[in-house]
Amino acid sequence: MTAKIIDGKSIGLEIRNEIASQVKKLASEGVVPGLATVLVGNNPASQVYVRNKRKLAVEAGMYSEFHELGPEAKEEELLKLIDRLNGDPKIHGILVQLPLPRHLDERKIIDRLSPDKDVDGLHPMNAGRLVIGTPGFIPCTPFGVMKLLDYMKVKIEGSNAVVIGRSILVGKPVALLLLQRNATVTICHSKSANLSSIVLQADIVIAAVGKSKMVTEEMIKPGATIIDVGINRTLDGKLVGDVDFEGVSRRAGMITPVPGGVGPMTIAMLLQNTLYSTQRRLRSSDYHDNS
Ligand code: GUN
Repeated sequence: MTAKIIDGKSIGLEIRNEIASQVKKLASEGVVPGLATVLVGNNPASQVYVRNKRKLAVEAGMYSEFHELGPEAKEEELLKLIDRLNGDPKIHGILVQLPLPRHLDERKIIDRLSPDKDVDGLHPMNAGRLVIGTPGFIPCTPFGVMKLLDYMKVKIEGSNAVVIGRSILVGKPVALLLLQRNATVTICHSKSANLSSIVLQADIVIAAVGKSKMVTEEMIKPGATIIDVGINRTLDGKLVGDVDFEGVSRRAGMITPVPGGVGPMTIAMLLQNTLYSTQRRLRSSDYHDNS
């Protein structure tokens, strides 16, 4: 078997085009969704990610505001910026790119975001809503993974889904989303025993560990759907995922490439969340106007 390739690039583009048409409609009514991106320090990968987020926000017709702080930025300075953005009516979504420099307390910074503008879905309020199953912002990468599965019409209900990785950004939220859709979910991590035999049971594998080519052909149930969230750089500068693409493609039914799989979906869902945030604020102001 040779796996079908899940083309996140074209699915992401389709979603962004749909968002752009909704943004256009809102703009004609006088409301432009605004996304603020915040970058602290000079991590080269983060610089590239934030540049792409800004570029695609503008392409979708949104207002984009960029704030760059130096690697020595003080916590107070960043908190002050977040307070200002929280109160700025032009801004509907705030993204603080992670990781932050080590001297900054990531949790304290994220906790300061207004949950209503937390389009990354990382604030405890939104994380809690995800656990409970009430509406809130869903972290962009897990949201993108679910969209890919739906676009490819992968059956989730009743399937065995194995998530490798337990991060706040991907592993935990994607496991909750799969559970919400009635998959039987197993979360594996660096201390899991018998990883291969667990993954071998999976109809859906989500690999989100950040270790290149750790998922190999022998671990795959024939016909399984493989979603590779990893972005690792090899010594010669090539981007590779957590999955040995060549080997696993021989057994899987569907697989995402790296790059061009999950990556483009993360940005599309960030824009989607920014649009939701704008629509939500409009609805709540309608409500207040009528009351
Ligand atoms: N760094 C890597 N992925 C992400 C993401 O989805 N959001 C933020 N804020 N930082 C990241």
